[in-house]
This record gives sequence, C-alpha cells and structure tokens, in this order.
Amino acid sequence: MLKSTLIKAAKAGAAEILRFFNTHFKISNKEGVNNLVTEADHAAEKAIIEVVGSAYPDHHILSEEAGVLTRDSEYKWIIDPIDGTVNFAHGIPLNAVSIGIEHNGIIIMAAVYNPHLDEFYFAEKGKGATLNDSPIHVSEQTETIRACLVTGFPYTYINIPNGPLEIFERFIRKGVPVRRLGSAAIDLCWVAAGRFDGFYEHKLEPWDSAAGYLIVEEAGGKVTDLEGNKFSVYQHRVLATNGKIHNEMLDVINNRKEL
Ligand code: IPD
Ligand code: CA
Ligand code: CA
Repeated sequence: MLKSTLIKAAKAGAAEILRFFNTHFKISNKEGVNNLVTEADHAAEKAIIEVVGSAYPDHHILSEEAGVLTRDSEYKWIIDPIDGTVNFAHGIPLNAVSIGIEHNGIIIMAAVYNPHLDEFYFAEKGKGATLNDSPIHVSEQTETIRACLVTGFPYTYINIPNGPLEIFERFIRKGVPVRRLGSAAIDLCWVAAGRFDGFYEHKLEPWDSAAGYLIVEEAGGKVTDLEGNKFSVYQHRVLATNGKIHNEMLDVINNRKEL
C-alpha cells in the first residue's frame, strides 16, 4: 500500500509536469535571482499531496513549496514536486518528481520519476533499487582520474575553503569530466544506475536528496557528507559514489590529495 501510493503520487506529480512543460506558465522568484518556482511546481505538489493525503491522512509531510504539514506520525513524506525547476522553466527535459518516505527518522522508500525520459527510479530499504522495474547497480570504476562525475552549484554562491568552484577546478584541471545536469535527484539516480561514478554538492535540502540517497545506497553505492561522515538528509553537503572511489574523492575534495 505504501509502495503503490508512492508510485501513484509520483505519477500524479509527473502528469502535471508534462501538462505544463513547454507551455506559457507563471514563473516567480524565490530567494536569489534564479531560484524559481513555477505554476507547475505548485500544481505537481498539490497533485502529490492529494494522493498521499487521501491514502494516509495522518502522515507528516515536508514538501519544498508547501513547507511542513505537521502531523503526529512516525511517517514523513519528503517531497520535491519538480527537482530541476530551472531546467523545466527553460524547456530542458531533465527534471523529476522526487519523493522519499521516512519512518522513525530512516528513509525506507524512495521514488524519482523523470517523465520526459519515462525513467522511474524506485528503492526500498534492504530490497535494492530499480529503474523501470529492472534492478540497477552502481559502476565498477576504481579510479577517480578515469571517472565521470556530476555536481551542482547553489543559487547563492558559498565562498568557503573547498567550495564548489575550487573542487570543480581541481577535477577539471586534471581532465576529469564533471557534468552539471541541474537536478540533484537525477544526478543521484544516475550514480545509482552506473552512468556517473560520483556526485557531490554543497547546498542541498532534504527534498533534493531524500529519495536519491536511498536509491544510491540500494544500488550498492555510498553516500556521506563532504567530510565522510554518515549522511543525513537534514544537512546540506553530499558525496554519493559507487563506493570504490569514495575515499579518493574525499581526499581531493578536502585537498589532501592531488589526482
Ligand atoms: C535544485 C536542483 C539543482 C541543485 C540545486 C537544487 P530545484 O532543486 O536539484 O540540481 O543544484 O541546489 O536547489 O530548485 O530545481 O528543486
Ligand atoms: Ca530540488
Ligand atoms: Ca523543486
């Protein structure tokens, strides 16, 4: 029932994404010039929350645009109605619904659905990860110098040692391909599917990472913060890899090693 509601909710949100995609929809600014929210984000969120609310009226919800709908429950649905809103607003078909379900503080089930590519990623804790119902696994790459990486940059730049551009520069100077897709949920799923060997980002929110985090772990990968500590969706800094290049990436990120 939890799984079928999750799938139904992700598909309901995705139907709204497709309904608005490449049409004339309203766009507003949040904090920062390019931090956008569109009519479609609100419509997708409404559709998702309706599905969740009618199946589980007592479950707690944390959703990017609607905020927190506090209910006294062991279950929390962590929802990003459109991850990759800037892509969406520009007609770039790399955006997705992302939903993670937390039970007593642990993410137990996750779905990320990119309706443009019709790619539905799903994971349940302890039961593996799938793409359109077929099992997926992280890559076998053991050397960062040969890896294909992906990252994202915040809408408001954070000027700190080992910041986003410094780390980017370290990899780029060594000729390591580092992509920037514009959707953290998709970045994480593409690590899970073995397309990327690693992903790092400095300023994610719970709705960006909750679903993708479980999907990477269940595909055999490793997720920590940028210092190598146990990952929590409630902190901002994420390193997700195939596991094999994790320590080496941590060394480069923390400037302990040159590639
Ligand atoms: C954003 C995307 C992007 C990441 C940003 C997020 P949004 O989410 O995941 O890849 O770099 O930090 O805010 O705003 O499109 O839901
Ligand atoms: Ca997001
Ligand atoms: Ca969003």
